[in-house]
Order: sequence, then C-alpha cells, then structure tokens
Amino acid sequence: MRYFVGNWKMFGVPKSINIVNKINAFVNLDKKYNKKYKAIITPPFTLLETFSKALKNKRVLIGAQNCFYKEKFSSDTGAISPYMIKKLGAKYVIIGHSDNRAEGDNDSILKKKVTFALKNKINVIFCIGENKTQKNKKFTNKVLKKQLSNVLEKKFNKGNIIIAYEPIWSIGTGKIPKISELSKTIFFIKKSLKKIFKRNNSIKVLYGGSVDSTNIQQFNSIKILDGFLIGGASKTSKKFIDIIKNYYR
Ligand code: PGA
Repeated sequence: MRYFVGNWKMFGVPKSINIVNKINAFVNLDKKYNKKYKAIITPPFTLLETFSKALKNKRVLIGAQNCFYKEKFSSDTGAISPYMIKKLGAKYVIIGHSDNRAEGDNDSILKKKVTFALKNKINVIFCIGENKTQKNKKFTNKVLKKQLSNVLEKKFNKGNIIIAYEPIWSIGTGKIPKISELSKTIFFIKKSLKKIFKRNNSIKVLYGGSVDSTNIQQFNSIKILDGFLIGGASKTSKKFIDIIKNYYR
C-alpha cells in the first residue's frame, strides 16, 4: 500500500473542491486502488468541512496540516484543536512539518500535538528531516533519531502513526536525495522506530520534498518506502494524478 498525500499549504478556496473531485474520480476508476494506494488531501483548515462533506464515503481522504497542542477547547486565540479538526472530518493530521518547527514547534509541543491527535483517533503524519548544514556534517541519522525518540513513545498507538521524512533542503527546491542515500535513510528510520516501539512494527515511512511527476518513478525502486508527502505538485489534479500514474508506470 502506497500513500500519496497532498499538502496544499496556504493554498485553496472552496471551488478548489473541483481538483479533489477529479482526483477522486481518477482513484475510483482505478480498480487496483484498494490494494495499491491511498490518496489523501490536506487542505487549509478553512476547507476541511467543505471538502470532507463533498468527499463523504469517497476514496480520497481528507486531513489537516496541523493542530494545536491542547485536546478540545481552550482560550488560545486563533488555535484549532485536534477535536475540532476531527469534527470537520479530518482523518489525518500533519504534525512537525519543518515550516511549523521553524515557527516554534519544539519537541515538547510536538509530543502534545501527537498525543492529543491520537487521543482523538486521528492518524498522525509526523514529519522529520535534517537541514542542509546537518546533512553536510553527516548528522542526518543523529538528527532523525532525536526527532523521533524525543516525541514518539512506546505507549502511542503505532497503528495510527505515519512518518514523513522530509529533508528541509529538498522542500520546494527541486532537489531530491540520491536514491541510494534515501533508501539507507528510510531503512535507518524504520530501524529507529523498531527501537522506540520495542518490537517489529509496521509504521509506514513516506518521503517528501520536491516530489513531482517527472522524478516519481525513480522512487519506485525503494521497496521499503511507503509513499509520498507532496507539496507544490499536489495542487492541481493533473499533476497529482500524473504522480500516481508515473509511479506505477
Ligand atoms: P514540496 O513540499 O513537495 O513542494 O517540496 C513538500 C512539503 O513541504 O510537504
């Protein structure tokens, strides 16, 4: 099963539902869908309700791009809790994206976000990734291990956690890691997850960073890679669908 998750970031208005409907129509036509892949769109908070109503009982699933670190209601101006996104139909939530880490989400905040999202039975897509300097200094594994072990706990329901490895230097830059290096990193992440959860686990690990329809096929050779978190190239139905098609070509 491969995941294709579209991270729309701060893009989209209600009529953008046309894009998601087209993706859904494509996914519906694909008889192999059930076994092969899951398509998930994470629009801004403002579109969650519109999208999830329109896509009720449809193949494409809806997620949120973030949530606040308190469970339900509180007097935090502008904040949106896991409970609230759940009520709007979000089945997934991205937590720990480098954009949000840069805005101040530290490990202790992220741990609360993951805890409360899981408590609300929302699947967490937890993002990790090194920056350019860390990569150049060959600190990648050390950084990833810390990002995982500082936030994830054995007691968390691993069935509801997905990891997205997103090297910061590759997000929105057009640069992707060498396939041989990426393969080793995904293996390392899976090994680290086994240590945290103290036994064999089935946590999926996705790659994100400049994935598009022209480079997707090369990722197919990494059999242990479970899917993709796609930013820029997920905002039109054609590009998103082409990514899925070209992956399986
Ligand atoms: P990108 O973004 O595909 O535009 O590089 C990925 C992300 O930020 O999740």
